[in-house]
Amino acid sequence: MTRLFSWLLAIALAGFVLWVPLTHAAYAAEPDAAATLATGHQVFELHCAGCHLNGGNIVRRGKNLKQKALEKNGVDTLGAIAQLVSQGKGNMSAYGDRLTPAQIEAVSAFVLEQAANDWR
Ligand code: HEC
Repeated sequence: MTRLFSWLLAIALAGFVLWVPLTHAAYAAEPDAAATLATGHQVFELHCAGCHLNGGNIVRRGKNLKQKALEKNGVDTLGAIAQLVSQGKGNMSAYGDRLTPAQIEAVSAFVLEQAANDWR
């Protein structure tokens, strides 16, 4: 009787341990867009605005974050921006070991969104 009970307990525990990360993964795969942009905004203010205030670029003026420049320089997709941010380029350092992949994706989404709205 106690044996059966501990088996049931073990199965229930295993089920729970598997269930938590699975449901969490589902949430992580479909984050709320507004929450992502809010995170992206925070990351931007903290890590990017020093050089890219209002979508500009104080180091290399032509390499700014306005829609036109992003298109011209081939960094007008989420993937391209995320890659540049995580690996760095020229005088811009890499953020791959300072920001999490989720933060990098969020800040990239924020940059695209702001570029689409002309940084207003
Ligand atoms: C120290 C200043 C500095 C900081 C801080 C910085 N960048 Fe940059 N960024 C640059 C420079 C310089 C370039 C131009 C790189 C090149 O192509 O030579 C650049 C280029 C870019 C580009 C490509 C723009 C284009 O038109 O080609 C994007 C997108 C970008 N940065 C996003 C970010 C984001 C997002 C952050 C914060 C996580 C960030 N940068 C932080 C200096 C900076």
